Amino acid sequence: MTMHGASAVVQSTAASEGRERTCRGHLKSPSGILGSFFCVHRSLGPEALWRLDCNEVATVEAERVSKIYREGSIEVVAVREASFTAQPGEMVAIMGPSGSGKTTLLSMLGCILRPTRGSIAVCGRRVDGLDERDLPGIRRRFMGFVFQSFNLFAALTAAENVQMMLKLKGFEPAAGRRRALELLGAVGLAERAHALPRDLSGGEKQRVSIARAIAGDPPLILADEPTASLDWKNGEQVITLLRDIAKSGGRTVIIVTHDHRVDPFIDRSVNLVDGELVS
Ligand SMILES: Nc1ncnc2c1ncn2[C@@H]1O[C@H](COP(=O)(O)OP(=O)(O)OP(=O)(O)O)[C@@H](O)[C@H]1O
Ligand SMILES: [Mg+2]
Repeated sequence: MTMHGASAVVQSTAASEGRERTCRGHLKSPSGILGSFFCVHRSLGPEALWRLDCNEVATVEAERVSKIYREGSIEVVAVREASFTAQPGEMVAIMGPSGSGKTTLLSMLGCILRPTRGSIAVCGRRVDGLDERDLPGIRRRFMGFVFQSFNLFAALTAAENVQMMLKLKGFEPAAGRRRALELLGAVGLAERAHALPRDLSGGEKQRVSIARAIAGDPPLILADEPTASLDWKNGEQVITLLRDIAKSGGRTVIIVTHDHRVDPFIDRSVNLVDGELVS
C-alpha cells in the first residue's frame, strides 16, 4: 500500500463507524499507565461538554508549565516554565538531548502527567486542574499517544492491541478487526498482525504502537520518538503517515525526536535544554 493510500484510509475512519462507549474493564499494562490511559471509570460530565464545541480539532497550549519530580529530599526540575502551542494541521517536533525533559513535557500535554505549575489547555479548555478521574475520558476522546517504550499489552496480538483502542472508540468487533488490519497495513505490518509483542522486533512494536495511536482518528496525536527504533525506510513511512494525518486530516501532531532525518517533514521544532524551551 502506498503512503498516500494509507493516509486516505486513516482519514476515512472517524465519521463512518460507530464510536463512544465506556470501557468496562481495567486492563493492566506492564507500566500500569495504559489501563488508566484508555479506560473511562465513570460517565463524564466534562466529556459531554467537550463534545459540544471541540469540533474534532485540538489546539494545545501550555503556558509556563513546570514539572518537578520529588524523590525523598531530592527535587528534579524536569521542565521549567515551558510555553508551547500547537495548532490543527501542524506537525511540531520537540527536540533536545537525552534527559532534557521531552517525555515529561509531552506527557503533560497528553494529560498523562500533571504539571507542578503552569497551565495546559486543549481546545481552549484548561485540563491541568481537572479531576484525575476525568482525564482518561479526555485522553480517549482527544488523544492518541505513542509511548517511548511502546506499552503494548503482552497478552494481545498486534491486531488486538490496535483493535482494543477501536473497541474503546465504539467500533463493533468485525469493523474493529478490519480497521486494525488496515492500520497495521498502513505502517507496513500486515504480515505481523497476529504476532504477540514478544515475537516482534523493537521497530515492529513501535509501528504497532503508532497504528494504535492513530486508530479512531484522534484530533491530537502525541508521539514520543516515533522513529527511534526504525530504519529510515520504515521511519520515513511513519513520519509521512503522521504528516499526512496533520496536513490532509487537519490533526495536531506533536512528536518528540532527536532524529534530524525528520526535519523535512515537520513544520517547526522547539528545543528543550535542561528542561527549558529555547528557540
Ligand atoms: N518519575 C521520575 N522521577 C524522577 N525523575 C524523573 C522521572 N521521570 C523523569 N525524571 C527525570 O527528569 C528528567 C527529564 O526526563 P525525561 O524522561 O522527560 O527526558 P527526555 O528528554 O525524554 O529523555 P530521553 O531522550 O532520554 O527520553 C531526567 O533528568 C529524568 O531523570
Ligand atoms: Mg524521553
